[in-house]
Amino acid sequence: MAILVTGGGGYIGSVLVEVLRERGIAVVVVDNLSRGHRRAVAEDVPFYVGDVGDGPFLRGVFREHSIDGVFHFAASSLVGESMHDAGAYFRNNVGGLLRLLEVMLEAGIGRFVLSSTAATYGEPTEVPIPETAPTEPTNPYGESKLTCERMLHWMGVVHGLRWAALRYFNAAGASDRCGEDHTPETHLVPLAIAAAAGRRGPLPVFGLDYPTPDGSCVRDYVHVEDLAEAHLLALERMSEHSAEIYNLGNGEGFSVLEVLDAVHRATGRPVPWEAAPRRSGDPARLVASSHKARRELGWTPRRDRLDVIVESAWRWALAHPHGYAPPRGDVLPHGHATRS
Ligand SMILES: NC(=O)c1ccc[n+]([C@@H]2O[C@H](COP(=O)([O-])OP(=O)(O)OC[C@H]3O[C@@H](n4cnc5c(N)ncnc54)[C@H](O)[C@@H]3O)[C@@H](O)[C@H]2O)c1
Repeated sequence: MAILVTGGGGYIGSVLVEVLRERGIAVVVVDNLSRGHRRAVAEDVPFYVGDVGDGPFLRGVFREHSIDGVFHFAASSLVGESMHDAGAYFRNNVGGLLRLLEVMLEAGIGRFVLSSTAATYGEPTEVPIPETAPTEPTNPYGESKLTCERMLHWMGVVHGLRWAALRYFNAAGASDRCGEDHTPETHLVPLAIAAAAGRRGPLPVFGLDYPTPDGSCVRDYVHVEDLAEAHLLALERMSEHSAEIYNLGNGEGFSVLEVLDAVHRATGRPVPWEAAPRRSGDPARLVASSHKARRELGWTPRRDRLDVIVESAWRWALAHPHGYAPPRGDVLPHGHATRS
């Protein structure tokens, strides 16, 4: 039996693939490489380049491998982009999930873990945010993920699917092998590292007048390997229990300026930055209550110190100065059931 990781060529998915391999669990990856990297995954892992919205392609993968659980990372996840093309977000995230679930259920695969997001909550009414907080997304990305969760609920009721939705806050850090290489990059830690390393100009800090200790926004950063461990725990629990939604965060917030200081400590170089106006829709504090995941899954984030998270990202950046950039001519085709 094997586990399918969709979006396994991406940041978080590639780390989970590594963790599964380390534990001796057979793993298969599907990724259309719209944003991911073949090089993020070890050569010996079956890697299918194709789209989760492509039924015949998925059926081919399920025929070749005996899959008994799916971790679904494949999605579009840029808030700003979703505000310019809402349809693309519903098409890829909701349409893609629907097709995947239909083919999975046809194949008799009944365990599923969704990468969901703190963006399902919108403006928080209480912080730390519990899973019971109102869900009022403020952008199509968050709404698309909330729609995915509702779809899973009904697939559970009607077809007996066992599922979990893990609402991540800010994934950060790196494993020894896998790190963050997004184009465009929108996440604070890799941007701050690039600024410290002189690979980009000063980093804009959006808003210094928030009601936080230093005036900059506070976010909850969770180490990507801690996230991966939560996925395994969720899948294990699903063998016995029905579906749940869990927040995955550190439970502790760090301000933007605290992150820049941590990058300075890790790299030994100050991060050049400049004050910029607030961005609309940026809440002052977004911090998860992860009590439920700790209590029910037995999850304990072990790399929860900001310095540990940032140092791991810096080590990866040093070892991969150009990210996963392939040499010319090494680009894999999109959209076919090509196994590489
Ligand atoms: N990174 C974060 O901080 C964060 C926070 C909350 C939620 N999430 C969610 O976690 C998941 C993974 O995030 P990430 O940062 O690793 O993103 P990522 O962009 O690095 O990885 C996503 C991968 O999915 C692939 N993909 C996208 N659409 C596809 C499709 N239709 N078919 C096949 N492959 C497809 C991309 O090529 C990419 O490799 C996403 O679903 C995202 O919404 C991430």
